[in-house]
Amino acid sequence: MKIQRVPSKWAKTKVILQNQSLSLYVPDTRKYDLNVLKEMLVLYTMIYIKPDRGSFGFGVMRAEQRTVTLSSSQQKTEINATPNNDEIEQQEAQILYILRYGKTAEVFFTPEELHKALQKRIQNRTYLIQKGIDLLRHQDRPFDLRVLAQKTPSGAWETTGMLGRVAAPQKIVTNYHSGGSILSVNTLLKNHMKPSESLSTVNHLKSLGVQIAGQLESTYPGIKEIGLDIAMDQHMDMWLLEVNTLPSIAIFKLFPDKSIYRKIHRYAVAYGRVKARKSPYSTRSKPSTKA
Ligand SMILES: Nc1ncnc2c1ncn2[C@@H]1O[C@H](COP(=O)(O)OP(=O)(O)OP(=O)(O)O)[C@@H](O)[C@H]1O
Ligand SMILES: [Mg+2]
Repeated sequence: MKIQRVPSKWAKTKVILQNQSLSLYVPDTRKYDLNVLKEMLVLYTMIYIKPDRGSFGFGVMRAEQRTVTLSSSQQKTEINATPNNDEIEQQEAQILYILRYGKTAEVFFTPEELHKALQKRIQNRTYLIQKGIDLLRHQDRPFDLRVLAQKTPSGAWETTGMLGRVAAPQKIVTNYHSGGSILSVNTLLKNHMKPSESLSTVNHLKSLGVQIAGQLESTYPGIKEIGLDIAMDQHMDMWLLEVNTLPSIAIFKLFPDKSIYRKIHRYAVAYGRVKARKSPYSTRSKPSTKA
């Protein structure tokens, strides 16, 4: 049977939100339009805007709000001997909207102007807006985690791999295809927590992989593998940024512990994603018919 793939992030998010305990991991996510943009900008200082059907971090944008005090306020303070501070702050405080994508940053003064710039890039495609998570950092670069869950040959779900992805300098996405680097989860977490906490975080991630796979399977019975993108914020809370139904497995070859990839590959062979490798050392390989 063909492995089911679900490209729409929106469709997958709705299925996860049906499960109350899993919904706690999903950052506020909505379909993009001007009113939603305005609402989200009231609620959050940073938001992500991304294609409903995207991958490799392509098309992902971020908007941040900054309140700046214009330099004229300083002049005014000097002129006015007894200034009313509240009045000056109110008059001079200006909200700026900074839009980032790739390594570009643009500044706007109203949500409408920001929307116009976004609209140019979105065109007629479906985009989502998501509450921005302030990701933990490694050597001053934000990182998130990829958790792979697969169907075992006996038909259960198992979390078989996890790794961390560190954003390339000045990038707003951590994706490997956008220049990000891969590190082990332990390496990334050890600067943020004690070893015992790191261990319980890894167990929590393993369990989340299995639970989310089960929840998605209830609507998409043909899925066999998923890749969770998990963000951790400054409070060590976990957030599910998205679920991939065609996750990279080759990326796990990068680890020195080859047993991890061997198991991932074995499961992928069992559910038919990849063909079994012919090993010249295998004693069980089929005898040649020409012999
Ligand atoms: N809400 C968010 N808060 C913080 N960072 C985010 C958020 N959404 C996305 N990102 C960053 O952007 C990256 C790409 O976003 P996302 O995974 O949703 O898109 P994608 O293009 O589908 O990626 P993939 O190749 O994994 O399918 C994330 O891995 C993360 O680094
Ligand atoms: Mg992703």
